[in-house]
Amino acid sequence: MSISKGIERLSTGIRKFDELIEGGIPRGFFVSVVGEPGTGKTIFCIHYANQGIIDGDRVIYVTTEESRESIINQASQFNLDFEKAIQDKKMIIIDALMKEKLDEWSLFELTVEELVKKVIEAKKELGYGRTRLIVDSMSAFWLDKPAMARRMSYFVKRVLHKWDVTALLVSQYAVTSDLSYGFGLEHVADGIIRFKKVIMRGELRRFVLIEKMRQTNHDLRAHEIRILPEQGLVLVSPTEMRSQDLRMPPKIIKKMEEAKEKSRAQITDEPEWSSE
Ligand SMILES: Nc1ncnc2c1ncn2[C@@H]1O[C@H](COP(=O)(O)OP(=O)(O)OP(=O)(O)O)[C@@H](O)[C@H]1O
Ligand SMILES: [Mg+2]
Repeated sequence: MSISKGIERLSTGIRKFDELIEGGIPRGFFVSVVGEPGTGKTIFCIHYANQGIIDGDRVIYVTTEESRESIINQASQFNLDFEKAIQDKKMIIIDALMKEKLDEWSLFELTVEELVKKVIEAKKELGYGRTRLIVDSMSAFWLDKPAMARRMSYFVKRVLHKWDVTALLVSQYAVTSDLSYGFGLEHVADGIIRFKKVIMRGELRRFVLIEKMRQTNHDLRAHEIRILPEQGLVLVSPTEMRSQDLRMPPKIIKKMEEAKEKSRAQITDEPEWSSE
């Protein structure tokens, strides 16, 4: 944790990444983590969660893409012990994979209302204090209603910000379906961290770029990342890539703009289903 100019910042667990954002993510921020499949979003979240355990924060990890066991296994590949953190009541992994066998920390329904309710229950269980929330991913909640993304993200932020959470909300950019599921979230977010993959000379390379971080003089370059056995995600170096190499295809941008317009038209000051 670092405090400068009155802003308390949470380390992401990746030292070189923290250096790009003046030491970490400001407490209370809702940060959107976006990118295509396999670009490192989940691994980034795993580092963030683990740093929370180290720093004595409460950690709530909602997983919709992989099972709880898969997250624990992935963390253990980088020598991070989530099993112990769960036993020690420092961490709760909410499994939203809609399995046949549900337990106390499963989502019964894939709705934002259910998500928010479960996160608050988890927060109460873990107790008072600074809390890290990871929702990996939010896209699952608006798969069949993308125009609602902005409104749903707004609801999640509005309700949960009172609970002392600093959140990473993941959304996917699905190449195969030619649709981005992240729209809406980025507008509500205090920060946007974009992951990107590019094939260069027949080799897959991954990059990370901070597109937005309020109240922060953040780095503006794309940084190459590597995912290494035992270590996890590491930053290699800034790259000379041009911004257009990292931007989304024009067709996708157009679709996002149309969806944004649609959801803007639907948004009202108070979502009718916010009932607290
Ligand atoms: N132990 C490991 N050693 C090296 N590389 C690994 C290891 N575990 C995972 N990876 C790499 O990380 C990639 C997965 O990254 P991650 O799960 O963070 O992607 P993601 O952006 O969350 O994708 P999705 O949107 O599909 O969930 C794998 O495809 C693999 O290349
Ligand atoms: Mg993932």
